[in-house]
Amino acid sequence: MSSQEIKEHVKKRYTEHAMRAQSSCGCGASCCGTPSTDTYAKRVGYTAEELSNLPEEAVGAAAGCGNPTAIAGLREGETVLDLGSGGGIDVILAAQRVGPKGKAIGVDMTDEMISLANKNAAEAGVENVEFRKGDIEKLPVEDESVDVIISNCVINLAPDKDRVFAEAYRVLKPGGRFIVSDIVTDGGLPDHVKNDLDSWAGCVAGAIDSGDFIKKLKGAGFTEVEELSRRGSGGIYSAEIQGFKPVSGLDSC
Ligand SMILES: C[S@@+](CC[C@H](N)C(=O)[O-])C[C@H]1O[C@@H](n2cnc3c(N)ncnc32)[C@H](O)[C@@H]1O
Repeated sequence: MSSQEIKEHVKKRYTEHAMRAQSSCGCGASCCGTPSTDTYAKRVGYTAEELSNLPEEAVGAAAGCGNPTAIAGLREGETVLDLGSGGGIDVILAAQRVGPKGKAIGVDMTDEMISLANKNAAEAGVENVEFRKGDIEKLPVEDESVDVIISNCVINLAPDKDRVFAEAYRVLKPGGRFIVSDIVTDGGLPDHVKNDLDSWAGCVAGAIDSGDFIKKLKGAGFTEVEELSRRGSGGIYSAEIQGFKPVSGLDSC
């Protein structure tokens, strides 16, 4: 199974997800046999107050495994980058937190998700947002231009995690923060899972051991890397992991 095959399958799955979230029945994913729109989002950690201020289709498209903007300590005026922004839920929340002097940028490889996210941001009335089509393994973002990177259940979907972490490091300003929610494992997964395309698209097969996730982040140059929390059981978890890009000049202190 090649990286290209995995990405094509993931793209197909999330194109379908974006289309379902905008189903013509007029009430988002809840009409299409999936749980009511905010049930899933509440389960992964969004508050009722956050959800009440978001467009229904942004909530209906939510496919993350945490609530990264709630733990990212976002400050007014910061530039935030969301890796794999989907229907835009975390970009909209980030834009509200950093205010008009700040900016939230989402990158996603699926046209339908980019279009849905733009629609949702317009409906939410946030103007300090931008959605760019691209691959998180090759970010369409300038060097050292971002204060905070967030991501919600996307890094597990990328076949080359070293490239994702190297790109995250490149685009962060010195002192920048990396705070993501993602799926990790305790130990490895069996080959029949790792070789199954549907399990890749379902955020399982590409999940790596939490210790390896941390090791790879440190290998890319991040410091103070730690797992902040985890939920789940059975060897596969949703976890919040953070790291920092060191401020040059202080590294040797
Ligand atoms: C599980 S969904 C999460 C979406 C969003 N973060 C959320 O919380 O709702 C995964 C998203 O990541 C995007 N994606 C997957 N692999 C990607 C990659 N290599 N580069 C860019 N986007 C990717 C998919 O198109 C999809 O929108």
